[in-house]
Amino acid sequence: MAATKEVALQEAKRILSYIESKELTDEDKERITKDSIENFNNHVNPGWLVYRKSVSTDAACIEWTDTEEHFTDLYGNDFIDCLGGFGIYTCGHRNPEIVKYVKAQLDKYALHSQELVDPLRGYLAKLVSMITPGDLQYCFFTNGGAEAVEMALKLARLATGGRYYISTVGAFHGKSYGAISMGGKAAYREDYLPMIQHVQHVKYGDADAIETAIDNLVTVGETVAAVILEPIQGEAGVQIPPKGYLKRVREICDKYGVALILDEIQTGMGRTGTMWRCEAEDVVPDIMTFGKAFGGGVMPITGIVARPNMWVEKLVENPWILGSPTFGGNPLACAAAIATIKYMLENDIPKQCKEKGDYFMEKLNALMEKYPTVIKEVRGAGLLICLEFPASEVGYAVVKGLFDRHVMTAGTLVNAQSVRIEPPGIISYETIDTVLEKLEEAIIDVKKEFKL
Ligand SMILES: Cc1ncc(COP(=O)(O)O)c(C=O)c1O
Repeated sequence: MAATKEVALQEAKRILSYIESKELTDEDKERITKDSIENFNNHVNPGWLVYRKSVSTDAACIEWTDTEEHFTDLYGNDFIDCLGGFGIYTCGHRNPEIVKYVKAQLDKYALHSQELVDPLRGYLAKLVSMITPGDLQYCFFTNGGAEAVEMALKLARLATGGRYYISTVGAFHGKSYGAISMGGKAAYREDYLPMIQHVQHVKYGDADAIETAIDNLVTVGETVAAVILEPIQGEAGVQIPPKGYLKRVREICDKYGVALILDEIQTGMGRTGTMWRCEAEDVVPDIMTFGKAFGGGVMPITGIVARPNMWVEKLVENPWILGSPTFGGNPLACAAAIATIKYMLENDIPKQCKEKGDYFMEKLNALMEKYPTVIKEVRGAGLLICLEFPASEVGYAVVKGLFDRHVMTAGTLVNAQSVRIEPPGIISYETIDTVLEKLEEAIIDVKKEFKL
């Protein structure tokens, strides 16, 4: 829908006035609401509001500001964030201790020249090696989770010379070609086949299945580059593997000279009660991916960290052979990540996630005992928690009931049987209690509605 230059300019000016505005008029609010619905329908995807924003559509809830544990809509309605952007907001929303340093860096320079040495990238890489286990040492920074996974996959081939990847059913590693080739859900893969051919998917949580797959491949003359795993499967509904699984997989990878990639994009940065989930299992991967909470809920930044044995000569000779993302590790994003690391260490965010997660889970288990026909299972680690309902419609109704009571969790029309609860790590116990109260109210309504 082409417009004249003048019309486009006026439109840009109007939008910028909203961004600049300290106080919107009622007319502005109505206009923004109407515009947003029209814009998403006409220029983003007509399905978006129906599908993705399903629980919030009735209320035409337009997010406008956020702080600590809350999102606030255009009309000033607060919502307790129990979704946490699927793990972004571990340090809370717009944490002032992080925003402060991003603003300070913005006053110096925002993006790097691409030619000079940008110091923050080096400092951040060193800090990452300091907060990750074992001898993980070399970092490569990217912009999104899938992009980090691409780098991990490529590095594994480069370092081991192997070709095949072993991934798991139910896995989620992002939606770029390499990452989705590792993905373990048919719905996201079918339309794009064939993708990377050298992938074998095995059952998650079964280390013997991994060994069998590698052994069979090697026996028929193939080579294996990596096993890629989430230490807990997040998207698959917080699937926690049996204790000792990761350790066994580590041994198998060592036995066959295969790289172990642990995707800690969702489980990392304190979410599950330790800085990294692999620490709880006492395992050091060869390559680890990180993202989501790494930018402190303020800037997008992701990346990988690898052991020295992965950083092969070829990569040293030509650092661009792995990737060369224009914005990867840019100064603003690095400032956010460095401030995030400081904040997490100073405030022991992993411990907060552990203690608050234990508290939350104990109360959720009590609710499950009280309403066993509505909640089928509660599982989780730290503040990565999942509620399992008997059917998607039941989960959806509970999520909707929570949203009506101004608590945001994740649930879509398509699959709300497993509902994730991933609040900010800084959530107060008082707010957790409020969420539990609202949840019980929603459950009582749903129990009646579905005659459970
Ligand atoms: C474990 C894991 N890996 C990769 C990704 C992809 O990250 P992004 O959406 O930033 O590409 C996600 C996102 O949910 C994830 O949970």
